[in-house]
Amino acid sequence: MSHNDIAVYIHWPWCKRKCPYCDFNSHVSDHLPEEDYLQALLTDFKTQSKNFEGRNLVSIFFGGGTPSLMKPLTTEILINEVCSFFKTSSDKVEITLEANPTSSSLNKFLDFESAGINRFSIGVQSLQDKHLQFLGREHSAKEALHTVEQALKTRARINFDLIYGLPEQNLTEWLSDLSYAVSVEAGHISAYQLTIEPNTKFYSDMRKNNLTPMPNDLQADFFDATRKKLTESDYSHYEISNFAKVNQECQHNVHVWKYGSYLGIGAGAHGRLHCKNITAIQNYKLPFRYIEKVAKNQHGVFMSQETDNETALFEKILLGIRLKAGVKLTNKELSILDAEGLSLLQKSNALLWDGTTLKIPGSHTQLTDDILLKIIK
Ligand SMILES: C[S@@+](CC[C@H](N)C(=O)[O-])C[C@H]1O[C@@H](n2cnc3c(N)ncnc32)[C@H](O)[C@@H]1O
Ligand code: SF4
Repeated sequence: MSHNDIAVYIHWPWCKRKCPYCDFNSHVSDHLPEEDYLQALLTDFKTQSKNFEGRNLVSIFFGGGTPSLMKPLTTEILINEVCSFFKTSSDKVEITLEANPTSSSLNKFLDFESAGINRFSIGVQSLQDKHLQFLGREHSAKEALHTVEQALKTRARINFDLIYGLPEQNLTEWLSDLSYAVSVEAGHISAYQLTIEPNTKFYSDMRKNNLTPMPNDLQADFFDATRKKLTESDYSHYEISNFAKVNQECQHNVHVWKYGSYLGIGAGAHGRLHCKNITAIQNYKLPFRYIEKVAKNQHGVFMSQETDNETALFEKILLGIRLKAGVKLTNKELSILDAEGLSLLQKSNALLWDGTTLKIPGSHTQLTDDILLKIIK
């Protein structure tokens, strides 16, 4: 990755229904002001990208919320704007769109493909109806399967989003979900362990003792079984929750984990830009506030802050250590970490240092947060 590389994240902040586990910036509204939001996105992009002309565009990621609720024409206008600004053609850039089975059809996938989308990330979550109901999803397993079949009719790359570690889930059910993803030759599988996030319905259910999370040791068994199943099926476990066939890694996310520059456009989007300094940017979160602010200020930025060198180094480690490839560090950079923690973790093979790169071996990646706590002073 060169510092000339840049990625663009575009946030679509609406969903048909709020899932009880989700703390993403997603809202439910009877009226989606798509035209006003598009104009705000274009203006925000124009202002925020001003100093970055000539950079090399790596990827565009339409995330949400549920971006498959967008009109394909809206994505096309945005893709053309971004690709022409950076003077890169859309067929050379990874362009992902997150798709929910309740707002996807073959025609829509084909229209998105014509608009320039070349990767669909499908929110399947589970292939068991009882678990989909628990997750508050509006689609059945049959509908999710149908969506996947339709997406496979395009030439786009496919990611499967699945969630495991559900309170009543057993390993046989989970391995059967993974077997299906493998059988349709999904190039990429994201297997997320359910996290109970504050400010979600699941969190208040848990506080009221109406939801009991899966115990940690069972979660660990699920993690090990996932890793075994997918690596034996020729997927590389390239990041804590992400598995890919050869050359199928999500380039956008890898760029972000490698601490690359990205512009964040849309309500609540974050950005990080390397110029003379590194600047962290955050946009206004509420969709209607964002539209108003862009109309007034010509950008949606709520906070823009320079990152000092020490924070930048910690951020680079926190993100890069998630990757199988690890994070490249100089000896001077390594010296900022807790020497005792480093030495103990190396002795127990939970951390590997070869003189240039610091890595967590795949078998220990589920413990990443605990490992980081021991080395970051
Ligand atoms: C922003 S959502 C986008 C996909 C689309 N909105 C959908 O749900 O179909 C990205 C993914 O994050 C995962 N996710 C969201 N909240 C989660 C949680 N609390 N625990 C585990 N995974 C979660 C889900 O797998 C989801 O597909
Ligand atoms: S999981 Fe996806 S569909 Fe559900 S509320 Fe979050 S962003 Fe929306």
